[in-house]
Amino acid sequence: MSTHWSPDSWRSKPARQMPVYPDAVALKDVEQQLAAFPPLVFAGEARKLKKALGAAAEGRAFVLQGGDCAESFAEHSADNIRDFFRVFLQMAVVLTFSGSLPLVKIGRIAGQFAKPRSDDFERIGEVKLPSYRGDIVNDIAFTPDMRQPDPTRQLSAYRQAAATLNLLRAFAWGGYANLENAHRWMLGFVEDSPQSHRYREVAERISETLAFMRAIGIEPEVNPETRTTEFYTSHEALLLGYEQAMTRVDSTTGDWYATSGHMLWIGDRTRQADHAHVEYCRGIKNPIGVKCGPSLESDDLIRLLDILNPENEPGRLTLICRFGADKIGEFLPGLIRAVQREGRSVVWSCDPMHGNTVKAATGYKTRSFDRILSEIRTFFSVHRAEGSYAGGLHLEMTGQNVTECIGGAHAVTEENLRNRYHTYCDPRLNADQAIEIAFLTAEMLKEARGGRLYHHTSAAE
Ligand code: PEP
Ligand code: CO
Repeated sequence: MSTHWSPDSWRSKPARQMPVYPDAVALKDVEQQLAAFPPLVFAGEARKLKKALGAAAEGRAFVLQGGDCAESFAEHSADNIRDFFRVFLQMAVVLTFSGSLPLVKIGRIAGQFAKPRSDDFERIGEVKLPSYRGDIVNDIAFTPDMRQPDPTRQLSAYRQAAATLNLLRAFAWGGYANLENAHRWMLGFVEDSPQSHRYREVAERISETLAFMRAIGIEPEVNPETRTTEFYTSHEALLLGYEQAMTRVDSTTGDWYATSGHMLWIGDRTRQADHAHVEYCRGIKNPIGVKCGPSLESDDLIRLLDILNPENEPGRLTLICRFGADKIGEFLPGLIRAVQREGRSVVWSCDPMHGNTVKAATGYKTRSFDRILSEIRTFFSVHRAEGSYAGGLHLEMTGQNVTECIGGAHAVTEENLRNRYHTYCDPRLNADQAIEIAFLTAEMLKEARGGRLYHHTSAAE
């Protein structure tokens, strides 16, 4: 492979999952406009995230990454962003407390618009049209016009990402995210949960800790650590023309950074070592994720680590494992051993969503809470057996009370799916299901770190 890299060197490589735009001139015009727009994130922020992820690679932090499968133009509202952020912070309180570790908070948000698809075409009856590839590419409406890739959608996506990020920054730094607020919201969840007995003890212990902090003078109103939070953005680096336009030189280091989001990941369908997506990502200095599914061989993984992290820098690479509940036990140990044998530094993160997608009898794409939980459990137990560190969780979730995944304490059933099924792509955990997963993962994290399980009654099991 040539060592020369430039923001457009991916263009000479084969690329999968990229839309074909009918009007090349219009596409070029949009990309030129984007290239002149302000960056959404800054190199220094991406470096800070890489450092935080470096701690997770070394077992000194835990990563929570989550958000929509696909952000949509139609659901862009302050309420949606606030509700997502609120649920995310509730999860963060529980995980931070139980793990006694810094939590690295990364949203799948403010740029998560482009989707890879298993089929290039969708058929309904006799009609065959290009598949929906996310709002940044085409429209979900099943008509020939709407399914045509339209480059001007990239401008709308950029503006939506900017507005979303603006609100998130205000929430993160303006006091809304203070620890006592997040804890108060979490208590509300515990009160309402049919499993509240299971979560009450940890909730009460956090209350006591916060009261103690106040008593010794650590007030959330004045203390930056409890008033504010670092929150980062991430998305799949799929639409490379858009990414290229948002790639800028950092004036302090002279390095190239993607400025469309703090962390970018490479999808399970586009991680071929000699293809365009890997080529683009190898040259930017942001932290990078790689989705690891059952088809990833150990040798291919090591090759990817060579290309994407030749200096073996901690925090540069997060391996987001998405095998499926019944496959993870077979595939994960081999990858861990290869990484250990080669002495590579990576963050191991668990995506229990993408290997557990099924079609319900009613036709809806869904995932079951129990299989999601089962994949997380196996993820932790495999790491324990291999002597490696289970460093993160990657979820598709929303702050809304949707009915897209089956199960959880409030028991969404197959029959309920149609009630509030709003996703533009994959089924997401709703607010209650997401917080519950955080409580259950917190127990595993605590156990992995050698702590006593904080709650065990036979009734709860
Ligand atoms: C996703 O994260 O939405 C996704 C498409 O994942 P994967 O590449 O792992 O299938
Ligand atoms: Co998805």
